[in-house]
Amino acid sequence: MKLAVVGGGSTYTPELIDGFARLRDTLPVGELVLIDPAAERLELIGGLARRIFARQGHPGRVTTTADLDAGVEGADAVLFQLRVGGQAARLQDETWPLECGCVGQETTGAGGLAKALRTVPVVLDIAERVRRAAPDAWIIDFTNPVGIVTRALLRAGHKAVGLCNVAIGLQRKFAALLDLAPAGIHLDHVGLNHLTWELAVRRGGPDGEDLLPGLLAAHGDAVAGDLRLPRAVLDRLGVVPSYYLRYFYAHDEVVRELGTKPSRAAEVAAMERELLALYGDPALDEKPALLAKRGGAFYSEAAVDLAASLLGDGGPAVQVVNTYNNGTLPFLPDDAVIEVQARVDGSGAVPLAVPRLDPLFSGLISHVSAYEDLALDAALRGGRERVFKALLAHPLVGQYDLAEGLTDRLLAHNKEHLPWA
Ligand code: G6P
Ligand code: MN
Repeated sequence: MKLAVVGGGSTYTPELIDGFARLRDTLPVGELVLIDPAAERLELIGGLARRIFARQGHPGRVTTTADLDAGVEGADAVLFQLRVGGQAARLQDETWPLECGCVGQETTGAGGLAKALRTVPVVLDIAERVRRAAPDAWIIDFTNPVGIVTRALLRAGHKAVGLCNVAIGLQRKFAALLDLAPAGIHLDHVGLNHLTWELAVRRGGPDGEDLLPGLLAAHGDAVAGDLRLPRAVLDRLGVVPSYYLRYFYAHDEVVRELGTKPSRAAEVAAMERELLALYGDPALDEKPALLAKRGGAFYSEAAVDLAASLLGDGGPAVQVVNTYNNGTLPFLPDDAVIEVQARVDGSGAVPLAVPRLDPLFSGLISHVSAYEDLALDAALRGGRERVFKALLAHPLVGQYDLAEGLTDRLLAHNKEHLPWA
């Protein structure tokens, strides 16, 4: 089995390698190609990847290349984990929206739109080249904003599934609180990427007993504390929102906080410098503990599960993924991309049925999904007016003067990446 990772020079890659090494019975990787234009970084990370495989006795071969077309040739699956403009562009996304009193975040709100505009054309170009060099390959997309990027890929007819670690992270957290094995817990996870709620936490499988009421009764304060939302909000929702919902439920509070502390991009850039220094140590042959401070913890396990199910029968039958709605949420168009539990096998992902949603959730989902549609249109066709309309449609913007101010800033800060701006 051949896997390729586009963005293989990411400081996150050792997390992925660690997962491939530990879970080799689930996913027998024969050849792993790390692809990245940043030669120095790639060499550093390729070296560490080989040492991790060797330490764990993994028989697979790790190669590195800057040549995308050669790297993906004949691959069974290609993982996309790239960041157009790097942490420097992320720093911008997290900063200029604050000047308008709006949240500065890499996937939510105006910053997320900027990221989508920069990213969609690049990802579509790469996907086209994958289609030529490896026509049967599955694309597993971790590239943010995953909802919009997956929608772009599917609309262009690619064999793609979008993936995020929020669900697997919560599964691990809830399992620990309940003192159960993660595989013994099943989440009724619903919404859009980075806009999801856990409606139930089931024992065993999709039809198991709902442990969520008991979990909240016993550990509600801890769960609320992690999300940095008041316990009373959880009790009133009766479900567990992902931490990205804090940008909606506590928007103004978050804006105030962001104005008084260093950006996440700056924190991550500092961590990356430290990580790269560690990776260069020839004695290091495992994922360093520092990597656990990044938001992407467990993404390797989600990737292994998904690739194993798409390429064979080693993965769990039901997994949380991003794919076409196709009637699952009847209030959204069929070609909206949703993040829900789906049955995954060699023919792709098919969402499980979702019971009728409370308007408390379906309202916000509809609103953000409509924004995502406009955001994709702006990313594909460009133009100031399309950017403005996407922002006007976003529930965290909504007012014309805010949308104007944000549009001006978005375009001014992204000229280098948007040929039409
Ligand atoms: C979570 C999200 C990812 C995101 C990451 C950011 O894992 O699901 O989509 O990329 O957080 O983490 P960072 O360490 O870069 O802030
Ligand atoms: Mn994510």
